Amino acid sequence: MEVCTTPADLSTWSDRHRVAGRRVGLVPTMGALHDGHMALVADARRHADVVIVTIFVNPLQFNRPDDFANYPRPIDDDLEICRAHGVDAVYAPVAATMYPDGFQTHVEPGSLADVLEGAQRPGHFRGVTTVVTKLFNAARPHVAVFGQKDFQQLAVIRRMAADLDMGIDIVGMPTVREPDGLAMSSRNRRLSPEQRAAAVCVPASLRAVRDAVAAGVRDAEAVVAVGRAVVDAEPLARFEHLELVDGDTLQPVTVVDERSVAVTAVWFGDVRLIDNALLG
Ligand code: PAJ
Repeated sequence: MEVCTTPADLSTWSDRHRVAGRRVGLVPTMGALHDGHMALVADARRHADVVIVTIFVNPLQFNRPDDFANYPRPIDDDLEICRAHGVDAVYAPVAATMYPDGFQTHVEPGSLADVLEGAQRPGHFRGVTTVVTKLFNAARPHVAVFGQKDFQQLAVIRRMAADLDMGIDIVGMPTVREPDGLAMSSRNRRLSPEQRAAAVCVPASLRAVRDAVAAGVRDAEAVVAVGRAVVDAEPLARFEHLELVDGDTLQPVTVVDERSVAVTAVWFGDVRLIDNALLG
């Protein structure tokens, strides 16, 4: 497995495979790798001949300094996991390589980035689109795989790739969950055992939402009330938001239909977890 730390090294590696006629697949991550990330790697393998995983905790997309400082960075374990899963190349640049002195150019997303996570975390998606563009330019992939766990991120990146004629297939993968339903996330490692047990209220809340819709409730406010009650009943959880939005526009809906998505964020201490459920 090749480990690259500069964009030039990665481009050289990737070009070598492109010239040989191989399809290059990319899985961008911030590390602290888990089975959710590895499901993306397995899918990239289905769409490409060689797979690159990028590992970079991107300072531009963090709006809280403590979240950035506390984000787990087990790089040795991550490299081992990549090796064990047959990843062909890892790109792990340091921040000074990614954003050297004088860096000043950004990719500005549009209105898809203003709602939901974008409203709660100002500047977050501008940081994501900027770093993902840099990763695309360094890796020159044919296909890039992202998780539906970050539903809005996937929508923003799809839009960006289309708007800027990037010529990269953007593939979305379903969320991988722990046996008790909690969506796998690098931030789960920051939960205390008590918080980890309490966090099951997040998927339980989304399940309650789906059950309400399956039972015929269509009024968005009523559906949200059902889901919120599950989180409110958990003393260690602090509800942030649960919204029903259109899966394409991400605009709030008042009546649930098959294109609606429930998106939620819940806090456990200083750890913020997000999750979502397609209601179609
Ligand atoms: P990170 O949170 O590390 O996630 C990397 C990729 O893994 C994203 O596409 C995310 O949606 C996906 N992912 C995370 N948890 C998952 C799960 N339980 N099941 C399936 N996929 C999952 O998202 C980022 O990093 C960053 O914003 C990044 C795109 C790398 C830009 O910095």
